[in-house]
Amino acid sequence: MSKKFNRYTVTSALPYANGPLHIGHLAGCYVPSDIYVRFLRSKEKDVLYVCGSDEHGVAITIKARKEGKTPQEVVDHYHQLMKKSFEQFGISFDHYSRTSAPIHHETAQGFFTDLYQKGEFLEQSNEQYFDEEAGQFLADRYIEGTCPKCGFEHAYGDQCEKCGSSLSPSELIHPRSKLSGRTPILKETKHWFLDLARYQSFLKKWILEDHAEDWKNNVLGQCRSWLEAGDGLQARSMTRDLDWGIQVPLQDAEGKVLYVWFDAPIGYISSTKEWAQQNGKDWEPYWKSEDTKLVHFIGKDNIVFHCIIFPAILKTHGGYVLPDNVPANEFLNLEGEKISTSRNWAVWLHEYLEEFPGKQDVLRYVLTANAPETKDNDFSWKDFQSRNNSELVAIYGNFVNRAVVLTHKYYQGQIPQKGELTGYDEEVLKALAEFPAKVASSIERYRFREALGLMMDLARLGNKYLADTEPWKTIKTDEVRTATIMNIALNIAASLAIVSEPFLPFTSQKLFDLFQMKDSKWQEAGQRDLLPEGKTIGQMGLLFEKIEDHVVDNQLEKLQNSKKMNEAANAPVTPMKELITYDDFAKLDMRIVTILEAEKMPKSKKLLKLKVDAGVGQRTVLSGVSEHFEPEFLIGKQVVMLINLAPRKMMGIDSEGMILMAEDKDGKLKLLQPHEVTANGSTIS
Ligand code: MF3
Ligand code: ZN
Repeated sequence: MSKKFNRYTVTSALPYANGPLHIGHLAGCYVPSDIYVRFLRSKEKDVLYVCGSDEHGVAITIKARKEGKTPQEVVDHYHQLMKKSFEQFGISFDHYSRTSAPIHHETAQGFFTDLYQKGEFLEQSNEQYFDEEAGQFLADRYIEGTCPKCGFEHAYGDQCEKCGSSLSPSELIHPRSKLSGRTPILKETKHWFLDLARYQSFLKKWILEDHAEDWKNNVLGQCRSWLEAGDGLQARSMTRDLDWGIQVPLQDAEGKVLYVWFDAPIGYISSTKEWAQQNGKDWEPYWKSEDTKLVHFIGKDNIVFHCIIFPAILKTHGGYVLPDNVPANEFLNLEGEKISTSRNWAVWLHEYLEEFPGKQDVLRYVLTANAPETKDNDFSWKDFQSRNNSELVAIYGNFVNRAVVLTHKYYQGQIPQKGELTGYDEEVLKALAEFPAKVASSIERYRFREALGLMMDLARLGNKYLADTEPWKTIKTDEVRTATIMNIALNIAASLAIVSEPFLPFTSQKLFDLFQMKDSKWQEAGQRDLLPEGKTIGQMGLLFEKIEDHVVDNQLEKLQNSKKMNEAANAPVTPMKELITYDDFAKLDMRIVTILEAEKMPKSKKLLKLKVDAGVGQRTVLSGVSEHFEPEFLIGKQVVMLINLAPRKMMGIDSEGMILMAEDKDGKLKLLQPHEVTANGSTIS
């Protein structure tokens, strides 16, 4: 399988424009693909890296419904946000398009028409779930029910997010419409199905035999379970009853749109076409030349679409290359829990960029070091901190910093001349020379964690070299030796600049500027004379800085808060009481009061005796809050009080009103307070 490729088309999954990007997206496919293309560019390969927003599908319409917006408004918003975040994070797409672009609608319809004319679709009327109250057929994601495989009660019509099984709506136990909550009925509708069984033997050979060696095990595993399933591949409908998407280009298909998984992958092609138009290039070689290597970077939930359905479409259409590899990653968890957009359990890219300005490389580093390449993996803020402090700062930053600072100190910033080399120097230079090929080999095999580890080993080599040779000591006794040491150290740092570029592009750029090595490419890395003797280097900016405890503690607290918000949002709510008239309400006399005194009632576990200034005079109130508040805490607080409640005698004391409080689902009491100091006796209405 060592084919000669002259061109690379690299794609990463088009993210749905229904929410912001988070670290799960980044670790899943954007960071690895960016490493890969940056490496290829450094190797001076002809490479095109395309992506764009996935703006169709039910995820978008559901989000729009939820927010009371039109789908167009939703996709416009998130498209811009994601595009900007990717740019700021240094994801170096050659082109970022969107599936609402006219060129995409044309291209996707073109594919559909082509397949239709070839007679590839099975036209089938079948019964689909229909919500009578909403008057709509229900797309898979509008149906929820119990997963037949694992019993999870909130599985979607197409997938169970708990156990990962792909489902069809009819498999769900107790289906419910997400529009109305009602049980949907089955109603007849016509659709166009891709008969995947026709491609089964081709796919089996192409994936399970031809790519048995070079595709990742997790990818092969999923493909095997599809391709070797007892009843074979099932026909899949490529159309949907939906009012958002790309019209099915047929006469008798009104109100029907292309299935989002039909149109989205074609988005890679449309994005390429748009790039070509805007840059005066020809798009076709990137998709049609046999010497083009097509690589799809995706997350594991996209495997079937990229390995089975899209290749089947490309193959049937003809004239297109098929992916040479589909290096899918598993999922990244956050602090031991599944990342969830709806539960706000995520680290959002746009927030990270704001809260950690200039620290793109730290996140890129941590996400690569913990990449879920072979199994699900976890991101934790403590790990983020320790990888920054004990790896980026202590190894990479420390090495480069020492080399540069000493060069300025001893040689006014000029690269000193090498003298005679010791055996140890030769050993180190030999190791240096071997690094680029080792890192390259890992990247070429999509082992980015391993590649990152090797890159850091190069920084370790430099660090160790300085620690072993101690130029700060030899400078006192042996100038020639010191010059040799510093020359070698600087050349290691320069190689590091090149080799780390795919992983840490912002840091690498600083080193490129420092060493003025603008056009240096991968080819030059590992050379002992990368930096010519006598060349003057620039001043050292800060590469990495220590991250303090309070910074990560803040992030952890932020996560805890979103957990609380969620729990609050999901808490069962006491049902509403029966309606009252305005007159009923107007009888209540509620005021802002200040608590002047508070003390425990002797012999009572629950009661506090409060004295309040109610504006209209002082009042004594017995309040059953002793288990919730310390008396001292209450003194001086302004709260809301019902002052015209008939007095009631308790334990020998008249209670002249009632302090109003909120009670959460756990029975915890919270004070109700005006948002600023308000005159006592102010009315509430
Ligand atoms: N939007 C899909 C997701 O986020 C990915 C689409 S990838 C494409 O899961 F290739 F189909 F575009
Ligand atoms: Zn399940």
